[in-house]
This record gives sequence, structure tokens and C-alpha cells, in this order.
Amino acid sequence: MTDPRTQVVERGYDAISDRFLEWRDQIVDDPRREWSGALTSRLADGARILELGCGAGVPDTFLLAERFRVTGVDISEEQISRARANVLEADFIRADFTALELEPAQFDAVAAFYSLNHVPRDLLAGLLESIYSWLVPGGLLLAAFGTSDTESWTGEWLGTTMFFSSFPPDTTRRMLSSAGFELLRDELTPMREPEGDVDFHWVLARR
Ligand SMILES: C[S@@+](CC[C@H](N)C(=O)[O-])C[C@H]1O[C@@H](n2cnc3c(N)ncnc32)[C@H](O)[C@@H]1O
Repeated sequence: MTDPRTQVVERGYDAISDRFLEWRDQIVDDPRREWSGALTSRLADGARILELGCGAGVPDTFLLAERFRVTGVDISEEQISRARANVLEADFIRADFTALELEPAQFDAVAAFYSLNHVPRDLLAGLLESIYSWLVPGGLLLAAFGTSDTESWTGEWLGTTMFFSSFPPDTTRRMLSSAGFELLRDELTPMREPEGDVDFHWVLARR
């Protein structure tokens, strides 16, 4: 049974799949390409990557799939159906990644572009432990976490109801360490969304 807060996220992205892309394309100074490069420069061709919250598969899944074997996960049927159409070279799973059960040590890397700020706080530690288990020893995690001290925010966003949740960076760092990760790179990186400036906590970490 999917957590009701995650159901809000699922219904929300089902409703705004196209609008989200239009909104996202207006973001200025999105550092995703640089951080993605920080990950991919450490991976061999053909490495297996699990992408959590792949959305419509553009641009990240598409670019990753040019060099790597990518499995994208998203809970939104609308998002994942667009991803399947946009990225023929990747595999996709429609699932709640906080409840996903996968064989251990299957992936060389896990990537999450702007999806973990939708994970309810009480589910994040368990998710980090799962990610750790899905990675091979030495495997890499790249993720953009939220930065605000937000237990739970449900409200209107892009014309739908959306749920967000995040920890301050120190707490996120502690949780990553508790899950067993070694932080390789860890920065608050700003960008400009249409509504104003926002920081994300980008992390590159190693199992
Ligand atoms: C802000 S969008 C980002 C999409 C894409 N990564 C990008 O950067 O454009 C967040 C995505 O994460 C997905 N998502 C959030 N929580 C999820 C969960 N628990 N399980 C699976 N997908 C989830 C949403 O459905 C949505 O497609």
C-alpha cells in the first residue's frame, strides 16, 4: 500500500506531466548536467544505473542511456509512459521507489534528479539503506536533496496538489553516513526557478 503522501505525488505528476516540463525548461542555471558529469566521469561504459524518479526521461535518462544500461523508476503512470516513449534504450519500472524490492548489489550507480524532496522524512532513512543495498561495493549515489527543514508540505504547486519534505543538509549528511555512504562531493548549489532562487543539496557518495 503506497503511503498517502506519496499518492499525492503520484496523482500530482499524473496531472502535470507536460506542465512540469514547460516549467522546468524555464529554470536558469540548473546544475544537473555538471553533477551528472561528476557521476558519469567515474563510470565505465555500460555501467548499470538505477534512476529514481526519472520523470519523462528527458534530459537525464536519455543522456545516461547513450553510454550506460539505465533502469528508470517512477510512480507516475503519465511520467513513465512519456519516459518509455522518449528513451527506447532504457528499461522502466512503474513503482514507488520507497517500497521497491530489488536484488542486492545490482547497480554501479543510483541517480535521483530532484525526486528525493518528495520522500516523506520518515521514509528517507529506509530508502537510503535500500539504495546502499542495491549498489555494488564501491557503487555511487548521485542525488539532489531538498535543503529546507520541512517535515511535510502539501499544497498547490503548478496547478495541482503536491507533497514535499526535506531535512536540513547536516541531517541529510548524517543519514547518508548512517546508511554507510562515504561522501565524495557534497554542496549546496543554487539555481533560479520561475518563482525565485532555490538551493538543492547535491551529493555524490560511494558505497
Ligand atoms: C520533480 S520530478 C523530477 C523528474 C526528473 N527527474 C527531472 O529532473 O526532470 C520528480 C519525479 O519523481 C517521481 N517520484 C517522486 N516520489 C516518487 C516515489 N516515491 N517513487 C517513484 N517516483 C517518485 C515523480 O513522479 C516525478 O516524476
